[in-house]
Amino acid sequence: MTLTQSTVTQFQDMIFSWWKDNRRDLPWRHTKNPYHILISEIMLQQTQVKRVIPKYAEFLAALPDVYSLANAQPAQVLTLWRGLGYNRRALYFQKAAKVIVADYRGIIPDSESELIKLPGLGLYTARAIMVFAFEKNVAMVDTNIRQIITHYLFDGLPQKEKTILMTADRLVPAGRAWEWHQALMDFGALAMAKEKKAMHVVKKQAPFKDSDRYYRGRIIDVLRVNNAKETQLVADFVREYGKTPVFFHRIIDGLKKDGLLVKKKSMLALP
Ligand code: ADE
Repeated sequence: MTLTQSTVTQFQDMIFSWWKDNRRDLPWRHTKNPYHILISEIMLQQTQVKRVIPKYAEFLAALPDVYSLANAQPAQVLTLWRGLGYNRRALYFQKAAKVIVADYRGIIPDSESELIKLPGLGLYTARAIMVFAFEKNVAMVDTNIRQIITHYLFDGLPQKEKTILMTADRLVPAGRAWEWHQALMDFGALAMAKEKKAMHVVKKQAPFKDSDRYYRGRIIDVLRVNNAKETQLVADFVREYGKTPVFFHRIIDGLKKDGLLVKKKSMLALP
């Protein structure tokens, strides 16, 4: 389909006029500090806004700059991440901080090619830093933005990723990429609920009590407090959760493989 300039302008007007009355005041919108933006974006990838707000403040207070994150104990980073889920992201984020210190003198780069090379950063996060920290005129596409584009510009019919990206690029109003994307974030979160239901998009659920993810989280919780002998920890978990030792040894092997726990002097420990 061809997107005419008048469709583009109409769509921009619709979004901005909705936003005038519905914009959210969020803490990371009061800063252009790339480190602050990076924290917020990594947290927001996996967790809802209302849960990120307090964690963002806590993280910044404890590790106020890229150097403090690079030099922190991984256990501290994981503790600060508690409640956000997907612990691996926290460790990637710390790796990224180490690269920024080692290769960029502590200054977060502003180009897509450099940002995308940092551990844990994909195209979306790279562009989010460019737009929200450096006010570059590029398009970001996340799940919500993809849904908005599909729904309003393609009659709800799923499109190839390339088409979505090209459309997103066309839609960015010159010089206003920052406001444009904040507006789309709010529109996606607040105004698209009905459409999302229609598309059978279900909300992310809390880790299922019987999932590997649930037990991975519990094991990390225990190791945040103290290192533990594997046999002892497994025995404790068998007693508490009534599963087999093999079940927990398998979960522990998975955590080791993902670099989320290590063996130190024959004890399990956070890395
Ligand atoms: N999700 C990702 N980035 C966001 C932002 N800046 N505001 C609200 N939600 C977001």
